[in-house]
Amino acid sequence: MVKVLVTGGAGFIGSNFVRYALRTHPDWHVTTLDKLTYCGRLENLHDVVDNPRHTFVLGDIADSAVSAPLVRGSHIVVHFAAETHVDRSLQSAGAFIHTDVFGTFALLEAARQATGLRRFIQISTDEVYGSVPTGASKETDELRPRNPYSASKAGADRLAYSYWATYQVPVVVTRASNNYGPYQFPEKVIPLFITNALEDLDLPLYGDGMNVRDWLHVDDHCSAVDMVIEKGVDGEVYNIGGGNEVPNIELTRRILQLTGKPDTLIRPVADRLGHDRRYALDTAKLRALGWSPRHLFADGLAATVEWYKASPWWWQPIKHQDPAYQAYYKAQYSTRPGA
Ligand code: NAD
Ligand code: TYD
Repeated sequence: MVKVLVTGGAGFIGSNFVRYALRTHPDWHVTTLDKLTYCGRLENLHDVVDNPRHTFVLGDIADSAVSAPLVRGSHIVVHFAAETHVDRSLQSAGAFIHTDVFGTFALLEAARQATGLRRFIQISTDEVYGSVPTGASKETDELRPRNPYSASKAGADRLAYSYWATYQVPVVVTRASNNYGPYQFPEKVIPLFITNALEDLDLPLYGDGMNVRDWLHVDDHCSAVDMVIEKGVDGEVYNIGGGNEVPNIELTRRILQLTGKPDTLIRPVADRLGHDRRYALDTAKLRALGWSPRHLFADGLAATVEWYKASPWWWQPIKHQDPAYQAYYKAQYSTRPGA
């Protein structure tokens, strides 16, 4: 059996990856290490948690007593665990430094001592390039992160690289664009707007709504990570982009159309501080390995809307019964001035 450690496997992308990995690789045993923070949920793994080829471990990646033996006992580590929401990093960045930087350091220290480790995938993000007014970021471009989230991810990205350059830890870094799909926590724009629309609530659109993101279906992200595990070269960075650049206003209108709700639900609100205008990735390096995204954005978004429509069991308890979520939502949106 190939022993695979997935950190953050109870989060959005991690849980989709665990599901993908168990389905695609019958010779893998997957261990999920997750702290179950506000967005890490065992519900995300409901259909795989009892799979005999899957083990769940509750713990903090920064706690070496828990994480180091798991890293040392693995052939492959796929490191998704992170604090991930830009708006939260603007309010309080400490947890981002703890998990994204120090937690990554703890895993890398263990990886340095591991004897059977073949791959350490550092899941980074396109946000490390900063705002890109024109063109598309290449892996060799300068990193210019502009908010505490992206800066903490840039720190982890380069720290991981340094463990390859210095100690030959078999690190490969991936930088993906904005993901969408099932099990995404309803603080990120797509699940927030879909679930608000389904409940006839306002969709709080930041600024002029012309910020652009490149949308990548989470399953395409999983297949890209899988490809990089198999064919990536140690010490290298691979961009993973969906090639779907969409301004937020257009995304919002599409969501309203797919949910059958009127454009009057759009509420222009004050912009995010330091809001990155645009991200875009050049994905030629990954495509040269043989990867391409499978999901057309129109179909993927429609399927995602259908998933949220069919899965109130998953999101309604978060929105209606989780006091921490409700406090966050209120602070973020209730007194926010109009744009
Ligand atoms: P998420 O916020 O949905 O999940 C993060 C998971 O990490 C949760 O399960 C949480 O409980 C866990 N976690 C947090 N701190 C931990 C700690 N100290 N120890 C153990 N577990 C901890 O995030 P996501 O959207 O699935 O993102 C996963 C990874 O992909 C992150 O590294 C993120 O930076 C990266 N990424 C995300 C996107 C995106 O669009 N969501 C795009 C590119 C890259
Ligand atoms: P988000 O999903 O937070 O991802 P990221 O900031 O990491 O790209 O936001 C995606 C885009 O949507 C971003 O330009 C900010 C915008 N946005 C809104 O307009 N309203 C919202 O309520 C949220 C959460 C995001």
